Amino acid sequence: RGRMGSRLRAAWLTGKTRPMEYRVAQLEALGRFLDEKKQDILEATSLDMSKVRGRGKAQGALRRLQHLDPASGRHVEKNLVTQLDSAFIRKDPYGVVLIIAPWNYPIHLLLVPLIGAIAAGNCVIIKPSETTKNTEKLVAEALPCYLDKDCYAVVTAGVEETTKLLENKFDYIFFTGSPTVGRIIMTAAAKHLTPVTLELGGKNPCYVSDNCEVHNVARRVAWGRFFNAGQTCIAPDYILCSVEMQDKLMPALREAITEFYGPNPKESPDFARIVGDKQFRRIQALLGSGRVAIGGQTDEQERYIAPTVLADVKASDPAMQEEIFGPILPIVVVANMDEAIDFINARPRPLALYVFSCDNKVVKEVLERTSSGGFCGNDTLMHVTLTSLPFGGIGNSGLGKYHGKFTFDTFTHHRSCLHRNMGLEAINCPRYPPYNQQKLGLLTSGSLALALVPVGVSGVG
Ligand SMILES: *[C@@H]1O[C@H](CO)[C@@H](O)[C@H](O)[C@H]1NC(C)=O
Repeated sequence: RGRMGSRLRAAWLTGKTRPMEYRVAQLEALGRFLDEKKQDILEATSLDMSKVRGRGKAQGALRRLQHLDPASGRHVEKNLVTQLDSAFIRKDPYGVVLIIAPWNYPIHLLLVPLIGAIAAGNCVIIKPSETTKNTEKLVAEALPCYLDKDCYAVVTAGVEETTKLLENKFDYIFFTGSPTVGRIIMTAAAKHLTPVTLELGGKNPCYVSDNCEVHNVARRVAWGRFFNAGQTCIAPDYILCSVEMQDKLMPALREAITEFYGPNPKESPDFARIVGDKQFRRIQALLGSGRVAIGGQTDEQERYIAPTVLADVKASDPAMQEEIFGPILPIVVVANMDEAIDFINARPRPLALYVFSCDNKVVKEVLERTSSGGFCGNDTLMHVTLTSLPFGGIGNSGLGKYHGKFTFDTFTHHRSCLHRNMGLEAINCPRYPPYNQQKLGLLTSGSLALALVPVGVSGVG
């Protein structure tokens, strides 16, 4: 493993990953991996989580990034004394970066950052999740056949080996996972002052105001909550609404669930399973919160948990103490919007916040008076389908952002550059000692920044 690190470091120092053509060629190779291994990827992910539909989103990102010219510097405004010079921001790669992917979307959440890291010109160490064994194996075996082995490597590692891996110095770490592990990553990164992006989770509130068309609300919330059996970091985690709305919503949610997954969701090819036994038992224990109004059935053998709605859940119940990350939707009754806002603000900042209301003012007010990584009014999940919007958390839900061009920026160091003209030395004279009143006058009145005057020089106010 140490050898792998030094191989990538050496490749980085040759500058091999910098030319545009090289980056495009590697991205194209990644595209071939997706095309040729499509069936294997679908099989591996469905073995890991009974996933039913693949997604080809990464290819879109790839096409888009190919149109960027990474290394072209952006010229910026100049002051009077740099008029003859060239001032620009250069988009440099960081160097050797580490990407740690999660298990809930084991391919997608690995490839999207990887594409950005390659496009930005970095060498990359990729660590797929050890929880999704089949996908991990596929990535470890197949991906290196497509990418340049000098510059890109896949490591397979459990907790212990990952801890070891993190002792190495990286130039950037991109992590997707839980806030708990996020803290461990950031602590390890701090040792080397390595910058990080942390894509974490949290409990995403969904406030449903009284004047709503319940059938549409129910469908949009049920879709967001039960997608991938709730194992989605931006899923609505719980509903906040009045007791009247809870009564109206319940039959509508039951209808939506039946419409999506049939009378027995266990038989639906569109309803996923829980990823592992540990996770299954954790989620199952949350079923004791409030009262089971819909669903509640489980099958440990299959790691199946039915789409479940819990009514009258209290803030002190187990389901409200942790991110659910499973197909359970608790409803917490609040008196009104103000109480919902207080409830949200009394807790760690979520990755996503959802509000449903026929009254635009309600949506706007909740947006105005709360804080979250992202926000979607009148729907769930849909804001992340826009690659024009940066995706990321705030506070407990993460640090940094990506998607679309923001992924490229995340893996890019914006280097400030000034190329000066060697002539016209007269312009520079006032900044050189010895100082006199005339020079200081020029310095302080002119466009030369005060910063050029040494601290403690007399006559400068
Ligand atoms: C939410 O949907 C309702 C009903 O269609 C609409 O009147 C309202 O403007 C929407 N709110 C926002 C913020 O788009």
